[in-house]
Amino acid sequence: MASSSSLHSLLFCFLSLLFSLSTAQSSFRPKALGIRVSKDASTLQYYTTLAQRTPPVPIKLAIDLGGEFLWVDCENAFNSSTKNPVPCRSARCNLSGSKACTSNPNPSDDVCVEFPHNPFISTTTSGDFSQDILYIQSTDGKNPTKIVSVAKFLFSCAPTSLLEGLVSGAVGVAGLGWNKVSMPSLFSAAFSFPRKFAVCLSPSTKEETFGAVFLGDGPYILLPGIDVSKSLTYTPLIRNPVSLVTSSAGEASAEYFIGVKSVKINGKPVALNTTLLSIDSEGYGGTKISTVNPYTVLETSIYNAVVDAFVKELGNKVSKVAAVSPFGSCFSSKNIGSTRTGPAVPPIDLVLQHENVYWRVFGANSMVRVSEDVLCLGAVDGGPLRFVDWGVKFTPTAIVIGGHQIEDNLLQFDLAASRLGFSSSLLLRQTSCSNFNFTLLRIRWNFNYT
Ligand SMILES: *[C@@H]1O[C@H](CO)[C@@H](O)[C@H](O)[C@H]1NC(C)=O
Ligand SMILES: *[C@@H]1O[C@H](CO)[C@@H](O)[C@H](O)[C@H]1NC(C)=O
Ligand SMILES: *[C@@H]1O[C@H](CO)[C@@H](O)[C@H](O)[C@H]1NC(C)=O
Ligand SMILES: *[C@@H]1O[C@H](CO)[C@@H](O)[C@H](O)[C@H]1NC(C)=O
Repeated sequence: MASSSSLHSLLFCFLSLLFSLSTAQSSFRPKALGIRVSKDASTLQYYTTLAQRTPPVPIKLAIDLGGEFLWVDCENAFNSSTKNPVPCRSARCNLSGSKACTSNPNPSDDVCVEFPHNPFISTTTSGDFSQDILYIQSTDGKNPTKIVSVAKFLFSCAPTSLLEGLVSGAVGVAGLGWNKVSMPSLFSAAFSFPRKFAVCLSPSTKEETFGAVFLGDGPYILLPGIDVSKSLTYTPLIRNPVSLVTSSAGEASAEYFIGVKSVKINGKPVALNTTLLSIDSEGYGGTKISTVNPYTVLETSIYNAVVDAFVKELGNKVSKVAAVSPFGSCFSSKNIGSTRTGPAVPPIDLVLQHENVYWRVFGANSMVRVSEDVLCLGAVDGGPLRFVDWGVKFTPTAIVIGGHQIEDNLLQFDLAASRLGFSSSLLLRQTSCSNFNFTLLRIRWNFNYT
């Protein structure tokens, strides 16, 4: 039973949310939106909470950078007077690229069908494509500003069973992918701002520490007043022409790939089979960025080459110790110093479109501390690129840059210009992703959602 004090604080929060909504001027047009992002200690998933429906309720959502759209469990306790299905053969149904509809005696009752995907358990179901009001916090790039709403925000319904494997309490997945119906695209269309968004994840799993997702253009200002959007390096975003998750054959992937041409450790090139680094005609190979994989996943031959080179560059003062799952390469931290950017280990450079354009990965992002005196290289052997046998894992993507590797880095996805801006480690600049000002947000969105 809920205690009266938690009921009281819940009520207070609803009232303050409603108050801020009713005082929002209708002419207010935000330049950008900012949502705070937490990391769950047990699943290592990143998640956020928005408000949806009439009356509004908080919805906790796991974040999927490459997800196609927002999907929400509509089977359990979905009460809203403003929810409507998207009709089949409508412009909004077309927008999603949906190729399916329900079929009814009266064709005008046909509803657009989508295929929500849970990337954490690699499962896809089907669901009605729907729309309802969604509330989100706006920002001026520095501080949170008003809460704004989009009246008919598109999402897919999903059965309750699709919530399996999500962070506790989550009712769906926030898809930030590269298509017309992903959350960044829909918000940009709703508020007429550039089709850009930025992700800045915090490694902390502490309750009051947050990273952020910004929807819209910069500035992205971190305390103490550093505008990270001013110092990004850019590389083209690459579209994988073959989606490996959707059920519709021939559909392009909504995931974000970049063109890693080679890998250097301590400035020295690692010998790799570079064929694996390009996406082939079936969608296999290449390098993508993921918030679903907590650590970087490498195809076996790349994994072995990277580990060998890394061990060599670490030198013989550092001793190898027994591997700690899921990692295959762990070390005693005794002779590893520490720096502003984490453990003092050889930097790993992902070389991009040109020899002098690279993403440098420092110790804080390459190493994972598994115990007081053991550090592991934060990469996982994903197996070969293709299916070889049942029970043998494989990774269709040669390099999956996972959550740990992008924490405390700001990544800006510019969908219109097809390019990624990246900051490398913000720790170098004596700031971090938890340094956005979420003061106001904390007051207004302090729902009790356990
Ligand atoms: C949703 O509505 C139904 C029927 O009106 C009601 O029985 C139920 O308690 C409501 N659930 C919530 C979570 O408000
Ligand atoms: C949806 O797409 C189909 C096929 O491309 C087209 O015939 C139809 O006119 C479109 N409907 C709307 C409402 O845009
Ligand atoms: C954070 O934002 C709030 C609300 O806009 C503002 O009152 C406060 O001064 C800001 N804090 C800092 C350190 O900028
Ligand atoms: C490199 O990878 C490609 C694609 O998997 C494979 O066909 C080829 O045999 C590999 N080359 C070497 C030298 O291992």
